[in-house]
Amino acid sequence: MAGQFQAPKGVPDYFPPRSNSFLAVQNAIGNAAALAGYGYVELPIFEDVNLFVRGIGESTDVVSKEMYVFEDRGGRTLALRPEGTAGVARVVIEHGLDRGQLPVKLWYKGPFFRAERPQQGRYRQLQQVGIEAIGAPDPALDVEVISVADDAFRSLGLRDFNLLLTSLGCANCRPKYREKLSDYLLKLDLDEETKNRAKLNPLRVLDDKREEVQKQLNSAPLIINELCSECSSYHKEVEDLLKATDVSFTPAPRLVRGLDYYTRTTFEFDHPELGAQSGIGGGGRYDGLMASLGGQDLSGIGFGIGTDRTLMACEAENLIVGDQSLVDVFIVPIGNKAHSLAVSLLQQIRSADIRADMAYGDRGLKGAMKAADKSGAKFAVVIGDEEVSSAQVQIKNLGDSSQNQVALGDMVAHLIQAIRQTEN
Ligand code: HAM
Repeated sequence: MAGQFQAPKGVPDYFPPRSNSFLAVQNAIGNAAALAGYGYVELPIFEDVNLFVRGIGESTDVVSKEMYVFEDRGGRTLALRPEGTAGVARVVIEHGLDRGQLPVKLWYKGPFFRAERPQQGRYRQLQQVGIEAIGAPDPALDVEVISVADDAFRSLGLRDFNLLLTSLGCANCRPKYREKLSDYLLKLDLDEETKNRAKLNPLRVLDDKREEVQKQLNSAPLIINELCSECSSYHKEVEDLLKATDVSFTPAPRLVRGLDYYTRTTFEFDHPELGAQSGIGGGGRYDGLMASLGGQDLSGIGFGIGTDRTLMACEAENLIVGDQSLVDVFIVPIGNKAHSLAVSLLQQIRSADIRADMAYGDRGLKGAMKAADKSGAKFAVVIGDEEVSSAQVQIKNLGDSSQNQVALGDMVAHLIQAIRQTEN
């Protein structure tokens, strides 16, 4: 029966068993970050709107079309965070984290909000896990950031993804390139809106999906060929280090990102089986961001991995991630005395760090066994009045239906051993 309410447009719900896989994906990325020395930062869900306008860039779609902006009761203009990098930079500056050991290395997770047109894999509430490393312009750090993402995907068992890599230059070479590209674009046969974009943000035109635009772009100048010597040797070092660490990548000189802060190393992870929304993660360097937000002039690099899309990628590769069961043991009490006993047995089992649940309500043996099956438990502990008086329980292996009668005092030890055996 459909209720009166539905989730807002473009907002996915995650509930068991799929939510277990969602958490497993989130944890895998968080673990890869923690393994490389990133500390956790909990970012606010909303911030001063100008943090994003200044940080991400006024002419980006994310800021100009997709932000959820609202006024609070004190008349402040706030926005739901569309991404995490600007928020991390703000935390680092506000709390002086950049006055300590550099680079500052942080990771974060959670929902972000973009009023995009919803479609398969494109949500208005999207989930990311991200890392940021601020304060060390070192190619080895670029390689670390990329490797953490690569390790996270591989730890989930993913294989069919590609790493697209390029350099977007710096404050020295990029403006010259922009001008060159803009001049080139303005000579083409483009509509007014695209011409405007060619003046304002010419790199974005390279990303235009329309065939009539793309076919005119074959000989467009590319930033990778216009890098200054510093950017060029920096990029070569990143590529050489990636090769040395066995992280495979595809040079992507036409890669365009939707956020304006990128400089030098820029990358995207792509999963071809996801169709139109194939980007499972992306990131890069942002060497001017800290200064533009009023902080020290420190470099930075990071990534945001899309948790929703990474889960979809796992599903596309038929990977089962996360525990699909809710518990290991399910107690089935039959009769009132057994029901009361089950309450304390449940506590004993959980105290031994075994996930356990019981049949609540008056469901009868059949209903209770069905609940045990649905929970994914490996074992059912069946107690009837007879077992209560003899201080025994029946432990049923739900996998092969074998059954053992065990004294109450031995129940926990028996379960620990039996579960261990199923895991071997
Ligand atoms: P982004 O490329 O905008 O980068 O987003 C990162 C990832 O979030 C994407 O690759 C995609 O997997 C996921 N994502 C983005 N939008 C949506 C959506 N509407 N629905 C589902 N998934 C989505 C950033 O946000 C940067 N802050 C990453 C970064 C960190 N760069 C440097 N540090």
